[in-house]
Amino acid sequence: MTMAMTTGASAGTTLGASAAEKGRYFGAAVAVNKLSNSTYTTILNREFNSVVAENEMKWASNEPQQGVFNHSSGDRLVSHAQANGMSVRGHTLLWHAQQPGWAQGMSGSALRSAMINHVTQVATHYRGKIHSWDVVNEAFADGGSGGRRDSNLQRTGNDWIEAAFRAADAADPGAKLCYNDYNTDGINAKSTGIYNMVRDFKSRGVPIDCVGFQSHLGTSLASDYQANLQRFADLGVDVQITELDVMTGGNQANIFGAVTRACMNVSRCTGITVWGVRDCDSWRGSDNALLFDCNGNKKAAYTNVLNALNAGPGIPTTPPTTTPPPTDPPPTTPPPTTGGCSASVSLNSWNGGFVASVKVTAGSAGTNGWNVSVTLPSGAGVTNTWSATASGSSGTVRFASVDYNSRLTAGQVAEFGFQGTGSGAGMTPTCTAS
Ligand code: XIL
Repeated sequence: MTMAMTTGASAGTTLGASAAEKGRYFGAAVAVNKLSNSTYTTILNREFNSVVAENEMKWASNEPQQGVFNHSSGDRLVSHAQANGMSVRGHTLLWHAQQPGWAQGMSGSALRSAMINHVTQVATHYRGKIHSWDVVNEAFADGGSGGRRDSNLQRTGNDWIEAAFRAADAADPGAKLCYNDYNTDGINAKSTGIYNMVRDFKSRGVPIDCVGFQSHLGTSLASDYQANLQRFADLGVDVQITELDVMTGGNQANIFGAVTRACMNVSRCTGITVWGVRDCDSWRGSDNALLFDCNGNKKAAYTNVLNALNAGPGIPTTPPTTTPPPTDPPPTTPPPTTGGCSASVSLNSWNGGFVASVKVTAGSAGTNGWNVSVTLPSGAGVTNTWSATASGSSGTVRFASVDYNSRLTAGQVAEFGFQGTGSGAGMTPTCTAS
């Protein structure tokens, strides 16, 4: 008997459809102003089922003045994606590059507050709409040190990355939260530095879900490219190829194929994004680094990627859980209005400020609404709240549930957060349910 019909056999005819058959996405970086170019959007809509903004969700673009947010271009991309059934990667909440001038000039606790506020505000704006966020981009140094890159963000304290992940998690608990970097295409000092950070985060419960490998590649591919993806996956995070482009030349098509096969062979490699649509859209200019030529024709690299997607194994799926229909008639009286709830707080502090993440757990009767009271230490003040409505800003502050998190079933957990000045140490939240 031949084994020609493997479970992985399929024959999708576009990158997005073929990836989707294998439980993955295939995305492109989009320059939002090109969405009005029909040659561009024809290819984008036909081939890709995921998008990321090439520049428009970066700090300089969406918070040009401190506290003044402009999400118009990012929103336009999200609408385009939603209208065309594409998922969206968010790129990027924090990065040493493409910061607005006002942030470049800041340091210390003022920068720490500004950056956490940026993470909170942007992740809250897009809450529920982003598949994966690059929470932190390019924070490790090139070369042999395996350590952090120097930057204004790094100089606010080595814990800035975990503070960013906790703030992003509080603002959008549904998004996958990724660390993203380049020159990590194989087992080397830089990728090992990142690996050690991810292992540490997982062991301490810092909310990290995924690692992005930019994969801006030259004329060869590290032989341990797949092994490197696999060692991260083995830490319990998803991996994604996030900015793939490859220098032109004899090996280009082979390298595109090999990267795609490597992802397919790692069951936690959930998707691939190429950094642009046509060669002439690429930031790499004369490298002609993408899958379509400037006229929109498919290149040999395209064919290799499509074949690798179609040949690869799928991500094992867990069967959807079905809820059996209730055997009893629905209750005719409203559920009991009390039954309690409990709240716990976790803190992320720096000199002069903090972010508090609060978990509310419903008691046995569930909730129709909840209130959490917190007495702040003297001198502390609440400056910003998400996923709850605050009454008061110092002393005893009451946080009330909002529309989408009021109703909890027994044991269900809602999360909200607030940012404060001063010290938040020693707060004990109390929860009441209605
Ligand atoms: C690049 C964009 O493609 C360019 O248009 C822009 O001028 C500079 O940034 N790593 C990243 C991306 O994470 O955000 C960068 O994008 C490419 C390198």
